Amino acid sequence: MNVGELEAVARSLVAPGKGILAADESAPTIEKRFKAIEVPSTEENRRAYRDLLFTTPGVSEFISGVILYDETIRQRSSDGTPFTMVLERQGIVPGIKVDEGAKALVGFPGEKITEGLDGLRKRLPEYRELGARFAKWRAVIDIGTGIPTRYCIQANAHALARYAALCQEAGLVPIVEPEVLMDGAHTIERCEEVTTEVLSLVFAELTAHRVALEGSLLKPNMIVSGKGCPTQAGAGQVAEATVRTLSRVVPPAVHGIVFLSGGQTPRQATENLGVMNAMGKAPWELSFSYGRALQDPVLKTWRGKAANIPAAKQAFLLRAKLNGAARRGNYSTAMEPAA
Ligand code: 13P
Repeated sequence: MNVGELEAVARSLVAPGKGILAADESAPTIEKRFKAIEVPSTEENRRAYRDLLFTTPGVSEFISGVILYDETIRQRSSDGTPFTMVLERQGIVPGIKVDEGAKALVGFPGEKITEGLDGLRKRLPEYRELGARFAKWRAVIDIGTGIPTRYCIQANAHALARYAALCQEAGLVPIVEPEVLMDGAHTIERCEEVTTEVLSLVFAELTAHRVALEGSLLKPNMIVSGKGCPTQAGAGQVAEATVRTLSRVVPPAVHGIVFLSGGQTPRQATENLGVMNAMGKAPWELSFSYGRALQDPVLKTWRGKAANIPAAKQAFLLRAKLNGAARRGNYSTAMEPAA
């Protein structure tokens, strides 16, 4: 492992004004997204959709890296160029999702453990060969009555740390993603309490596994009200609670925090990030690694029709640009197009 090289990649992923596009939806997830726009999830449709995203002119000003799925990292653009090369030519770093999904945790109803450690050490060099320079592993923590349990958090933190150590051994920057879900009626205070516990255990495990934090990135949820909570916290409260929580548990050796959007609307995700960056004085870069918040308007514009591709690219460029502004603390809701 060369920590200097990992650190350089980690820093480039959180360069000023830039963030990550998460385009690593697994086969079942992309099928769900396509179903919502009535597009069949065929291999060619998945390829055509990712092609649209990766060939949007001008997007590299705001997008530093793209997370790919196993199928996607092996696919090619319409002109035959491998997707990894399409990205590299624009100065965008290719990354790869390496977990195999969150499965039921035996004995713990309602809780999940992420699978994919078996054989991971063998899979990683191939991904690096294919062009990946960073990786992602997502752990899922649900809030509900009596959950999460300490055991579930610990098991997921342990898996995240084993994954991160293996990535660094293979020369890949691990993005460590413990997602506390916003599903449920819990308050923002409960989200803060759970996220604090989760991140504390995750960093204890990363340290115990001798992971070089400088060569890693954290991908957490923001501290938000549960979707079903009657009182919804606004951007100011979300930003303050999120930065407070992270300050308590994330060492400054981590160069960047790349938030997931987790079901926030594209606008909310951009606004919350913008307010955090406008607050200033955080010891890490505060950036994005959004899936839905970057792609929802693109999918709705595209709807599987070749004729809609130019407009869909414009929709992607707009979201990328607004999140780029949020990265610099220059975003205002007045920059949003009229509804
Ligand atoms: P969302 O931004 O849609 O939450 O997706 C990010 C991601 O990569 C989840 O693993």
